Amino acid sequence: MRRPLIAANWKMFPLPEGALDNDSPYRERGDMDIVVFPTFLDIKECIHARLITGGQTGHNEPSGAHTGDVSMQHLADAGCRYVLCGHSERRAEHGETDEMVAAQVIAALESRMHPIVCVGETAAERKAGTQHAVIERQMSGLPLASDLTVAYEPVWAISGGDTSTKAATPEDAEEMHAFIRSLLPEEKREATRILYGGSVKPENAAALFAQPDIDGGLVGAASLDPAAFQSIVEAASA
Ligand code: PGA
Repeated sequence: MRRPLIAANWKMFPLPEGALDNDSPYRERGDMDIVVFPTFLDIKECIHARLITGGQTGHNEPSGAHTGDVSMQHLADAGCRYVLCGHSERRAEHGETDEMVAAQVIAALESRMHPIVCVGETAAERKAGTQHAVIERQMSGLPLASDLTVAYEPVWAISGGDTSTKAATPEDAEEMHAFIRSLLPEEKREATRILYGGSVKPENAAALFAQPDIDGGLVGAASLDPAAFQSIVEAASA
């Protein structure tokens, strides 16, 4: 049995109301891992409040002349335990390539953080029927024998903050998750968690998490609403 993991990706938004309170739904529970991904500026406050915290990206070099960047090592030194690598918004807006993402994953592991590597096809790629080839390419350079988590995030299902966007159906998501699992080395196939991301909300969380190869969620828009996030957590617990 894989322990569920629910990740709250707060992107470039302020901390949700009450996020740091003692009874906040963003706190770790006995039956699953809950991790928050605030902006770089809010990371230390979250760690101080004892939330399990991660960075939304990190530079692979430990330090250097890279204006505007924060390194994996900095994140680890600040107390981050997780980091997102290769989120589709980073790939699209900051030109992160598969090679850059792989270098980040390696650096994160060297800094003793747990990488959550995001993969997923665009709408055009799915329309062309190339989704499996895209995922295979995105995963090909990754150190898949290491301890990491994969997040399947079809780009067409990511809300961009618009909560009316449609998630993948549980069946379509499961088909891709099973495919991703088949790409993992045999010794890691059972243990590695694969999260679904892209318009996870209270209404669809239970059906998604009931799929055998979906081990939790990477939640954007709905994670900014504490009540919605709480329901998603409950769905993962059921
Ligand atoms: P969403 O975002 O839940 O708002 O679709 C998910 C993500 O981008 O990680």
